[in-house]
Amino acid sequence: MLTVKELNAKGLRVVVRVDFNVPLKGGEIRDDNRIVAALPTIKELIAKGARVILMSHLGKVKHKEAPKVVEEQKKKNNMAPVAKRLSELLGQEVVFVPVTRGEELEKAVAALNDGQVLLMQNTRYEKGEEKNDPELAKEWAKLADAFVMDAFGSAHRAHASTHGIPSLLKEENKPVAVGYLVEKEVANLTRCVDVKEEDRPYVAILGGLKVSDKIKVIESLLGKCDKILIGGAMAFTFFKALGHPTGTSPVEDEQLDYARGCLAKANGKIVLPVDTVVGDAFDPAERTTITVLENVDVPEGFQGLDIGPKTRELFAKEISQAKMLFWNGPMGVFEQQEFQKGTLAVCEAVAKLEGKAFTVCGGGDSAAAIKQFGFAKKFSHVSTGGGASLEMIENDGHLPGIDVLK
Ligand code: 3PG
Repeated sequence: MLTVKELNAKGLRVVVRVDFNVPLKGGEIRDDNRIVAALPTIKELIAKGARVILMSHLGKVKHKEAPKVVEEQKKKNNMAPVAKRLSELLGQEVVFVPVTRGEELEKAVAALNDGQVLLMQNTRYEKGEEKNDPELAKEWAKLADAFVMDAFGSAHRAHASTHGIPSLLKEENKPVAVGYLVEKEVANLTRCVDVKEEDRPYVAILGGLKVSDKIKVIESLLGKCDKILIGGAMAFTFFKALGHPTGTSPVEDEQLDYARGCLAKANGKIVLPVDTVVGDAFDPAERTTITVLENVDVPEGFQGLDIGPKTRELFAKEISQAKMLFWNGPMGVFEQQEFQKGTLAVCEAVAKLEGKAFTVCGGGDSAAAIKQFGFAKKFSHVSTGGGASLEMIENDGHLPGIDVLK
């Protein structure tokens, strides 16, 4: 694949798909990590004298909803604050275009000078974006002499901006390239997919809420890993499958057979918690009791909210053996102080591997947790894509937004 470094971009209009899907609260950016992560590529293109046209989605816009609801979602997910923050980070003006097609956009693109940067409004303002509508892709592709993919977090989506534009440009023999962020993500995550003997034991840690989101990744990891530690709410589907009472813990009943099947073919690779911390409500305002259980039999009226102390020790011991580690999903409700210990224990155990093992955090909530606890620098790689990093492992290194560039 052509890289942004190799791209001869002087004077070219380069459309760059970035992932600026940042958390917003009342128009304020709560975490600008993803904007910062795209800076090397943007700066490289500025230095080369390209005319940089940035495109990204932001949040969800559900076009099937009533027009009033769609308008509210658009208002909530307006890209304007991102342009402001990007301009501060770059130390230069970023031309913000508040629309996604038409004369205003075309004129702004035509007015760009070499080294100038433009950010278009949220790609999801367009109904055709998520459908990879060819008409929309054509509108956008005509703005571009070249395309750079730097939105790793969106590379598992075959949308008009991630897939449609590069497909069309390739047909026209125009250059398509990967940006620095995507290059780095692919290199690090590929190592977790094509496992070398020197990277064994390979330990995966999976947590979070939904088993169904992580189904294929469990199957794929069973073929690659030496151990899979399962914590978080998803462990309760496995416990129910094994016949344990699970109280009011979230369980995906439709996945019980799948969980049994995984355990049957795991050959002892899957390590489940041996104790758990339960509460009588998820919401702190409604909760009256928190109990540390010696086992994983959750009584009626209680739900599991974190792994217990014996599990923390067990998981830390397994982690200490690892030469390579992939982690996705917290061990408990780390957003609440009472249930942070499990996720924190994993962070501490991984930190001890520094310099001795290759450790990857696969984005999403676990990346938010390690950042909150101050462990981000202790990992070899923290991915900017939750869904994308999981799908990359599931699909043996393939993602539609990257394969299209090959
Ligand atoms: C993410 O935050 O995982 C990416 O930006 C993709 O967002 P999406 O799940 O809304 O497509």
